[in-house]
Amino acid sequence: MKVLIIGSGGREHAIAYCAAKSKRVSKLYAAPGNAGIAKLAECVDIPVMDFEKQVAFAKENAIDFVIVGPDDPLVAGCVDAFEAAGIKVFGPRKNAAIIEGSKAFSKDLMKKYGIPTAAYETFDNADKALEYLETAQFPIVLKADGLALGKGVLICNTLAEAKDGVKEIMLDKHFGDAGNRMVIEEYMTGREVSVLAFCDGTTIKTMTSAQDHKRAKDGDQGLNTGGMGTFSPSPFYTKEIDDFCQKEIYNKTMAAMKAEGRAFTGVLFTGLMLTDKGAKVLEFNARFGDPEAQVVLPRMKNDIIDVMEACIEGRLDEVNLEFEDNAAVCVVLASDGYPVSYEKGFPIKGLETFDNKEGYYVFHAGTKEENGEIVTNGGRVLGVTAKGENLLKARANAYEAVEWIDFQNKYMRHDIGKAIDEQ
Ligand code: AMP
Ligand code: GLY
Repeated sequence: MKVLIIGSGGREHAIAYCAAKSKRVSKLYAAPGNAGIAKLAECVDIPVMDFEKQVAFAKENAIDFVIVGPDDPLVAGCVDAFEAAGIKVFGPRKNAAIIEGSKAFSKDLMKKYGIPTAAYETFDNADKALEYLETAQFPIVLKADGLALGKGVLICNTLAEAKDGVKEIMLDKHFGDAGNRMVIEEYMTGREVSVLAFCDGTTIKTMTSAQDHKRAKDGDQGLNTGGMGTFSPSPFYTKEIDDFCQKEIYNKTMAAMKAEGRAFTGVLFTGLMLTDKGAKVLEFNARFGDPEAQVVLPRMKNDIIDVMEACIEGRLDEVNLEFEDNAAVCVVLASDGYPVSYEKGFPIKGLETFDNKEGYYVFHAGTKEENGEIVTNGGRVLGVTAKGENLLKARANAYEAVEWIDFQNKYMRHDIGKAIDEQ
């Protein structure tokens, strides 16, 4: 079948890697793709938010199957646009992607259906939010309601900081319309785990767990980023915790979305905090995580198209999801200065070292081809993933492989997966 992937990041490169391996796929396209995806797929220059052009391209080229990667098009109804044209498409519809698109929606859903999460209040008025803060406990967490590139969350240690935060989100509109409403929630402590799951509207099947490192600098210092690296599985996500989450979180969420007339098909990403009072939901996303996909998908044994098709056709219960009994670590190579300001356009050397190297992957995030050369074209440039028989070996392999790559202003964290040493 002919498959079109919407998106241009490391996550979409990891999806393309799996789709290219699928026995079901005869031709792969990506819109717009990137320089790495271009090695596996024909990239077409259509932006992720131009649904009209995407659908027209799919019709003209007799595309059989579409996979939508990023949050923005999902929340804006990309899946609905392909469905309306009668094209098979993997991802949640707009009315289900709201679980990521509105934090107030997802918090209200969890409250209504008794899904464990931090206590919270929702505000659509800055004065009310400021009044509430006067009697609140600190630290406290402020969240812009809408999509904000993973940056709309402020952890405030004092009343003064929180007041500034409300101003930033609701009055100065730092995150644009995402800040028309905000959620103020209880601060939780514990380890974070990301669990991705395939969903067919009724059945939910979880993949192997992962952990992201969101802060820019070693030791979890610096600003929040889209993610500086990941490891999988998380040794802290035990069988006992999984049993609890399957029952109290994943299955309840699937049933809740269905009961609300918003059946969720696609990948549900649950961000968990493992608190001393049990696992609680930090956030839901309506898609694969980035860079979680870069450590989870290389370990998946199933044919990705078989699984995605079963989701669309409501027969995920027939699928046995299987993952390799090993580990993977992904280290993001960024441009120095990310996430604030950075230069682009530097040639990248050493990419060919990864060709045909079993267990090593270089996923492109912000790259482009210029005069026959691959150059840096974003804050997060590459995700270098390596597998190993356990996390320590995978980490050693990943940090060996990052040295094969060279570009000006190359920046990375040196402690991805370090938490596993405490095990
Ligand atoms: P989110 O986009 O909701 O996942 O938030 C981004 C990051 O902020 C999370 O990965 C956590 O590290 C942190 N965070 C979010 N909500 C809370 C909370 N209620 N308590 C403590 N940390 C939080
Ligand atoms: N890595 C976190 C995210 O994709 O939202």
